[in-house]
Amino acid sequence: MKKEELKELLKDMSLKEKIGQMLQLMGVFFLEDADSVLTGPWQSLGIEEEDIRTAGSILGTYGADTLMKIQKAYMEKQPHHIPMLFMMDVIHGMKTIFPAPLGLGAAFDPELAERCAAVAAKEASVSGLHVVFSPMADLVRDARWGRVMESTGEDPYLNGRYAQAQVKGFQGEDMGQPYKVCSCIKHFAAYGGAEAGRDYNTVELSEHTLRDFYLPAYKAGIDAKAGMVMTSFNTVNGIPASTNRWLMRDILREEMGFDGVLISDFSAIMETIAHGYSADEKDAAKKALEAGVDIDMMTGVYAGNLCKLVEEGEVEEAQIDECVLRILELKNRLGLFENPYKDADPKKEKTVVLCEEHRRLAREAAAKSFVLLKNEGILPLDATKKIAFIGPYTNNKEIISSWAVTGNVSDCVTMEEAAREVLDTVHTTYHAGSPMLENEYELIGFGGILAHDVSEAEQQKMLAEAVAAAKEADIVIMPLGEHYQQSGEASSRAMIDVPEVQMRLLREVAKVNENIVVVLFSGRPLDIRELSRTAKAVLEVWFPGTEGGHAIMDVLTGKVNPSGKLSMSFPYCVGQIPVHYDAYSTGRPDLEGKKEKFRSKYQDIPNEPLYPFGYGLSYTTYEISPVSLSSEVLTDEGLVEASVKIKNTGKAAGTEVVQLYIQDITASVVRPVKELKGFQKVELAPGEEKSVTFVIEEPMLRFLRADGTVGSEEGKFHLWIGCDSMTENMAELQYSCKRK
Ligand code: NOJ
Repeated sequence: MKKEELKELLKDMSLKEKIGQMLQLMGVFFLEDADSVLTGPWQSLGIEEEDIRTAGSILGTYGADTLMKIQKAYMEKQPHHIPMLFMMDVIHGMKTIFPAPLGLGAAFDPELAERCAAVAAKEASVSGLHVVFSPMADLVRDARWGRVMESTGEDPYLNGRYAQAQVKGFQGEDMGQPYKVCSCIKHFAAYGGAEAGRDYNTVELSEHTLRDFYLPAYKAGIDAKAGMVMTSFNTVNGIPASTNRWLMRDILREEMGFDGVLISDFSAIMETIAHGYSADEKDAAKKALEAGVDIDMMTGVYAGNLCKLVEEGEVEEAQIDECVLRILELKNRLGLFENPYKDADPKKEKTVVLCEEHRRLAREAAAKSFVLLKNEGILPLDATKKIAFIGPYTNNKEIISSWAVTGNVSDCVTMEEAAREVLDTVHTTYHAGSPMLENEYELIGFGGILAHDVSEAEQQKMLAEAVAAAKEADIVIMPLGEHYQQSGEASSRAMIDVPEVQMRLLREVAKVNENIVVVLFSGRPLDIRELSRTAKAVLEVWFPGTEGGHAIMDVLTGKVNPSGKLSMSFPYCVGQIPVHYDAYSTGRPDLEGKKEKFRSKYQDIPNEPLYPFGYGLSYTTYEISPVSLSSEVLTDEGLVEASVKIKNTGKAAGTEVVQLYIQDITASVVRPVKELKGFQKVELAPGEEKSVTFVIEEPMLRFLRADGTVGSEEGKFHLWIGCDSMTENMAELQYSCKRK
């Protein structure tokens, strides 16, 4: 449809019908037996039959047959036969589940993320969906927050590259094309800044931290033309995001130029009452509308109050028209007025979903997401050795994250299944060794409290069998880690360690065999001081997804050389959080080697994280030359090339992530000690050497200056090129501004 036709349609709609477009419900409201995933608190919505008849979109329901049925029945009754939008949380894959986003971030490979998003879009679209609530572009610095798993990490530049790539993967050039869906950037804004890592908690940020660190990744997704944005649950400096005019109108719409559909998070408009910001539902509806929120997700706040507000002259109908036009435009961009079913196709759903090609990509992506944290020469595995697998993840299919709500655990390949394909079937043994969690640990999943009781006698038996196997083995592989429901939404943890029952198993095994390789599953950085002291090698595999087992064996056996790098620091311990590499300078930095009292440091732990951002080992070694600059002076009219040579000095072929960091040494506001400004993945055969060049230009030096403008400032800059954020391979650059 042409824009003019959409406007005509809008003119012809009744107020009630328009408000219907702004209501989002779940599939069960339309089809009793529709498979629906409830991703927020169930509540009574106080809506009427007519609201349901005109509700403009659905969340949480998928399946070509189901959604086609709902669409047909709905359109017949909808006064103007306007099609519905079907939305779903497709976070890291639809049915073919890719590694959890924090793992994908560790691949330092936005192009890979784009390919994964394109596959997810294809599977989602044939399953009848039009919009995916992804990517989550929230910056994260606090590993206690369960949702760090859904983020690509602590760095604004890296997150921005991923947000952009994923939007491109989901939407392609035109979301109306076959197998494309609309992407929804979330959660605007700064949801990752929740105080003390407790989900839904307050966010207090200075404007320069908000603008320089938290906002850029959303902006990158918006620049990539994401069709939707979702608000966040939190307050930002005292005002709930979902009713925050400044955030939504001034920043998102005006400054960032977002002209798509803005949806609230699940009941977030209503929750502004509990925040103590809206007096009641009517007040909340008015404030959210004034902020320009187009769709109310799963409450009756808009449906029950907007009509009254217009009638009483409290809000202009034109404000509602503005929202509804945006929703109609999105439906139009997706081509739904011409084909309301878009790609929904029950036959294709069967052949496309989880096809071999998709599984292959899942395996590749997972292997690339793994980070080798430690290796004392024990990996890759010597397959002639006698190997025992001991740990609760040995033969466990629960290796997709709690946010893979469309995926099936039963489709996953376990480590044992994969190991049996490649290792000696006579001598290799497999044992759980312990339950995943202590009996007392209370875990509430999407469906309520999850029981995991294993009797004391059974636990003793498991342990005894494991220790006996460890005694017999040359090498023990220990697949340990968090339960998959210990991270994700509403899964904050104060103690971010491997469950104690598994640590006991590790200690007992270590008493009889020192050749331990830990394969670590987690949705967040954990406190692994003891674990990494005990094991000879530690491979972080996150929640690796459907093909996790195969990918892990590919890396353990050396078929794939690990190349992942942490996109979020592993803290030394909880007391150090938030810890991130791009901290601001202090007046009393802790100088290496100096034992001085009056320094910014702890008495009992180091300042440095256990494993820093950008860190990850390989089965080979690399040598990097000093940084060479094409000129020592950069101007705003030119560029400088910063280059290094990197050589593979080991025996295995490998891929290294070469990273560029910059520091603005003196500025009108204090700047971070280091900021990632570029990275390149370089493949190198043994003995091979390559040059890597980064182009430095003025826009890379910009920040929110003391006078409130964004720009760069003249002066000296440090510039590092290396293999992690601790690199000392530095050069100095002078920046001078000609266009004054
Ligand atoms: C709440 C979550 O915060 C958000 O990420 C998700 O997309 C919605 N629920 C819908 O499930």
